[in-house]
Parts: sequence; structure tokens; C-alpha cells
Amino acid sequence: MDKVRTSCGALRAPDEGRRAELCGWINRRRDHGGLIFVDLRDRDGVTQIVFDPQNANFRDAEHLRHEDVLKVRGNVRRRPAGTENVRLATGEVEVAVAELEILNRSAVPPFQVNADDTVDENLRLEYRYLDLRRNRMQENLRVRHRIVKAMRDFFDAREFVEIETPMLIKSTPEGARDYLVPSRVHPGTFYALPQSPQMLKQILMVAGFGRYMQIARCMRDEDQRADRQPEFTQLDVEMSFCTEDDVLETMESCMRYVWKTVLGLELAAFPRLSHEEAIAKYGLDKPDLRFGLELSDAGFIFEDTEFVVFRSALEAGGAVVALRYPGGASLSRRDFDALTEAAREFGAKGMVWLALGSDGVKSSAAKFLSDANVVALRAAAGAETGDAILLFADPRPELAYAVAGKMRNEVGQRCGMRDPSQYAFCWVTGFPYLEVDEATGKPAPAHHPFTAPAHGQWDLIDTDPQKMRAQHYDMVLNGYELGSGSIRNHVAEFQRKVFKRLGLSDEQIEDRFGFFIEALTYGAPPHGGMALGVDRLVMLACGETSIRDVIAFPKNQAFRDVMMDAPSTVPEQSLRDLGLRIVTP
Ligand code: AMO
Repeated sequence: MDKVRTSCGALRAPDEGRRAELCGWINRRRDHGGLIFVDLRDRDGVTQIVFDPQNANFRDAEHLRHEDVLKVRGNVRRRPAGTENVRLATGEVEVAVAELEILNRSAVPPFQVNADDTVDENLRLEYRYLDLRRNRMQENLRVRHRIVKAMRDFFDAREFVEIETPMLIKSTPEGARDYLVPSRVHPGTFYALPQSPQMLKQILMVAGFGRYMQIARCMRDEDQRADRQPEFTQLDVEMSFCTEDDVLETMESCMRYVWKTVLGLELAAFPRLSHEEAIAKYGLDKPDLRFGLELSDAGFIFEDTEFVVFRSALEAGGAVVALRYPGGASLSRRDFDALTEAAREFGAKGMVWLALGSDGVKSSAAKFLSDANVVALRAAAGAETGDAILLFADPRPELAYAVAGKMRNEVGQRCGMRDPSQYAFCWVTGFPYLEVDEATGKPAPAHHPFTAPAHGQWDLIDTDPQKMRAQHYDMVLNGYELGSGSIRNHVAEFQRKVFKRLGLSDEQIEDRFGFFIEALTYGAPPHGGMALGVDRLVMLACGETSIRDVIAFPKNQAFRDVMMDAPSTVPEQSLRDLGLRIVTP
């Protein structure tokens, strides 16, 4: 006898005549010519079931509503010719319901579960269990599962060990604030939730594991940003006795394996760019390489210019950067005004544009541009008649490049060059070791303080730290920083020096990092590693634009959980147990 129980995605034409039992939710209900048609949905698909007025269950079927939960039994039959649904895997058949059991009723959903139309995100997140019933979300979380499984399989085959590191730890600096957890048993003291397993995975190298990986949860009390969550997942990796190339090869091979097994796509070798090259060509250290549109230095063209904006920028050691806008000559003045506004939002003081029309050149700075300037600019930017050229000047060259880089992405977007089904990975290497923290004006590590400087540069920390480069690398995909990593300082003395250079006193070093530096003194092997943001990676693999769409229960844009209503107040007694009092500002 054939199996009666089946899924809502399984039945096909050859099943005609079979008896079937289906369980699922009502996706849609239609009354037609005396018959009631219901699309029954489960995790596997949708099957049409039909209630006949002759049947005893017809009266019950008349009261069925969307999202009610049913169990039905009946015979599989071919749909009448002309009524098949080619868009449905089960579209050639239907089940004539003989027995109906209503397993549960549903309240009226606040939005349609069966349509992929746009619904306010907060409403989706408040009723996440309904939102997750939708096809797109079901598919995204399944892809996420497959990606994480492929990662584990890849590292398992290379003899990496997955080791869980604790959630209640001492602060690990990764550039954000810590989430703190008060200790009840040790009043007045706090655990920190890990911003990453950084120090612990390094200690696992001291412990001799050699190859570690973890699908690790990380918590960072950061300011809200589109591609960030306060709680997120990393593919975290660390290796001993390795070079930078070993880490790059490992992580790149992992991505190639994941893309092949999950998406069925072959990835080409990832291009490697130095940090300097990335900035010079693309303005950003996370270039989107799905398109060209390289920036060009236009400073030399304006050495003797009368135009005070360019002149003052160049005299102050700044830069004038040019970006070609393919086909941009057809933009209106209003379009250019909107672009200038966008440039201001990117941090620019302004933007100069030139439209290279077939009827002549128009520009926002026409009276300052000589014919020779225009000829030189066309050549520098590689622009042709029909294009526009956008110029960004700033006394701080890094700002002129950063704004031009952001505008490059904007132009790429407008020109349809950022196809989400294309995957352009690259490596960016050789970052500066230190940068100046804009908020404090103090030197801060470009990556984190555990990063080793470039070969042969150990001494520069005492003499010329700003010149130091780091053995720090980023993996970039389609303009997103997917992950970062570095070769680490495995010598205790150097690690101590780095902390001192960052302005920590001996007491602070001892208090915060004493255990870690001590671990390094017991024969720490040379080691390095990296971490990839799993949420970002899955988002890009799914062609989504928000990491919230690949996380089952994310926080909303204001970093709140609107389903559970967290964060929330706690009973007074809980505070008393912890020895805490709320002081409202
Ligand atoms: P880093 O801080 O660069 O490195 O983090 C690695 C990657 O994690 C992702 N990521 C985030 N994703 C979502 N929301 C966030 N708030 C968030 N913050 C970071 C990014 C990022 O590239 N310990 C080092 C790694 C190492 O050196 O091995 C670290 O955590 O994709």
C-alpha cells in the first residue's frame, strides 16, 4: 500500500488515483461554481484541495479562513484540462477532500501571508512568525542553513575543529561598545558579551589546536547602520604557523566551495588590491568590482587654476578627483543638483560637473574651465562625448577620494551596473597600521590591536608608527566588507608595545589584557585568521539588500525587538538582586 501522508509540494500527475493525506495552512480560498478551492501550504509547497457540495465536510469548508490549519484526506485527481497551473509544481493535480480535520483556527493576519507585496517592516517584525511563513523568507533561511553547513563541511574536511567560546567574558575590543551583564553572585562586577571571540581564538592557538573555526555569535553596542545588527554571526577562523597567503587561500577556497555547492556557481580567483590601489582607483577600501569606472586624479590639471575651490584644496595638499558618468551628458540641471546634494550627504563640500554634450560642454564651473582643462579632463577621466565628468575637491585627499568612491557606487547604480546576481569578490591588503580616531583624535588600530605590522616594520612602532602597514586583509564582495583578518602579534613584548602606543597605561594593560599577554609568554605560535560576516554574506547570496531579511529574529532599524518588545524594563526585585539602581538622565 502506498504512503498516504505526503507534503503539499509532492503530488504530480502520475499520482492520479492515489489516496493522500495533507497537513498545512490555508494559503488561499476561492468559491467557484458551487465548489470550494483551497490552496493548502506547508514548508514544501502548495497543493489545491477541493470541497464538493455533496460532501459532508462542505459546511465546515464554507467557514475556513486564511491561515487556518487543516489535515485533509482524499483522492488525487487530474485537474480538468485548461485549469492546470503551470507556475505550481503540483499544478497538474488536486485533492478531492473526503475527510477534513480543522487542527487550529487563525486570527485574521495583519498582512497577507500569501503575497510577496511590501508590508511595513515593523509590522513584519512584530508578527515575524507570519512573515517567516512567506516564500521569500522560507527560502532565505534555507539558503542560510545550506551556506553555514557548507562552511562547516569545508573546514571539517581541512581538519579545523569547531570550538565554542563563552558568551560571558571580559571585554574584547573590536571598536564598538560592550554589552554588559551584571553579576549577581559578584555584586558590582560585570561580564561583557563578546564583540568577537578574538582573544579566545588566539588563546586556542596558544593551546595548540592549530586550526579553529566557529559559527560565532557576536554582540556589539554600535550606532545603527543599515548593514549592521547589535547581534550578528561570524564565520570565525584562526590558524597557527601560517602566512597571510595561507589565510587568504583558505578563506577564498571556502567561498568558492560555498558558492559552488549552494548556488551552483564557479567563482574566479579573487583579485588582490593593495589598500592604496583600492583608494586610488575606487575611493573606498571596499570597492564594488562589478563595474569599472575607475577614479582619476585631476589635481595636475588644475595646478594653475583661478578656481578658488580647487586651488585652495590643492595648496593645502588635497586632491581633485574625477569620475566619469557614462551617458551623463543627457542629465538635466536638476539631476546634477540632486547628485550634488547626494555628494554633500557623502561628506563633500560640493561637486563640479561637466556635461560633454554633442552640442558643446556645459558645466557648473564653466567660467573657470579653459578649453585645455576640458581636453585634459576628458583624457584623464577616459570620457567621451555623451558622458559627464564629476569632480570632487577637498583639502583632505582621503575625503575627496571617499566621496568620489561613494558617488562611483551611486553612478554605477543609476547606470544599472550593480546586478545583484553578479558576484565580484576581491581582497584588499596592506592596510595602514594606525589611523586617527575621528572622535578622540587619538591613534587607533585600523583593524584591532592584535594585528601584526608588515614584515620588517616592528621597529617603526617606536620611531614612525604612522608609516606602519599592517598584515591586515579584508574580503570584499560587491562593495561590502564581508570580513577582516590579520596575522597577529604572537610575541608578548610587542603586543604590550602596541597597547602602550595606543595610549594605555601599564595598569590598564595589566587589568584588561594581563591574562592575554601572559598566555602569549608561554610559547604562543605565530598565528593569524579572519572572520566573515555570515549575515552579510547570506544577504548577498540571496540577492537581498537588508541583513534583516536573512536573520530569523532581527532587531528593527532602531535596534529593538518589536515582537518580544526588548529591550524592556525589569521588575524592581531583579534590579535589587543585582545591586543596581536606574538613574534616569
Ligand atoms: P570585524 O570587526 O571586521 O573583525 O568583523 C568581521 C566581519 O563581521 C561583520 N560584522 C557585522 N555584521 C553585522 N552586524 C554588525 N554589527 C557587524 N560587525 C561586523 C562584517 C565584518 O567584516 N575579530 C575580528 C576578525 C579577525 O581579526 O579574525 C573581527 O571581528 O562582515
